[in-house]
Amino acid sequence: MFITFEGIEGSGKTTQINHTVRFLEGKGRTCVVTREPGDTRIGKKIRQILLDPENRELVPQAELFLYAADRAQHIHERILPALKAGHDVVCDRFYDATTAYQGYARGIDLDMIQALHKQVLGTLKPDLTILFDLDPRIGLERAWKEIDRGGRADNETRFEHEALAFHDKVRAGYLELAAREPHRITIIDASLNKDEVSRTIARILSTHLQGQELNPIPRQIP
Ligand code: TMP
Repeated sequence: MFITFEGIEGSGKTTQINHTVRFLEGKGRTCVVTREPGDTRIGKKIRQILLDPENRELVPQAELFLYAADRAQHIHERILPALKAGHDVVCDRFYDATTAYQGYARGIDLDMIQALHKQVLGTLKPDLTILFDLDPRIGLERAWKEIDRGGRADNETRFEHEALAFHDKVRAGYLELAAREPHRITIIDASLNKDEVSRTIARILSTHLQGQELNPIPRQIP
């Protein structure tokens, strides 16, 4: 199973990924945890460029193609080999982030982004996407607290420096995607406490696994 986690900054998805892995492993499954951008050797270099707040001159098109480059490398080196080996892949952000951030928030043409995704992904698609929905006012406050505590490097804060209006557009973009693909994307209220969120995720995963057992669809790995 290929599961992706999405949401604005400070929505708490990274913490919940650990719970998800424990839950899946408790069901006897094996998981590979990964993230975008930056989960390959080359991807780490791309991540530095993308998240460094000093890179103010990075234009939206260059940003888009850097995310696509990171993803191409990530799919080839990490995601497909893990799926082929029979592991579950749990990924912290994937292509919906590009549609939400570079498409809805930066304003790059959505058809162009879709065409790019077709090139980079082929037929690969997450089986399940969990969207952590949260008011960006709360998310950004949480994110900056984490940065001030030293939990996130100062040189990875380019998006936290974006205006609130930008993050509002990201959130609206994600919600629009969820409305378009309700079977794949499940929205979670990320303002709830951590335990409640974990329990909700466990319920979603149980339902999904049961569905797979009742109606197994063999995965076509490109
Ligand atoms: P994170 O590793 O803390 O989630 O930071 C990654 C940042 O990159 C986050 O602000 C969202 C942004 N991003 C995009 O803008 N487009 C993308 O396609 C991805 C994967 C992330």
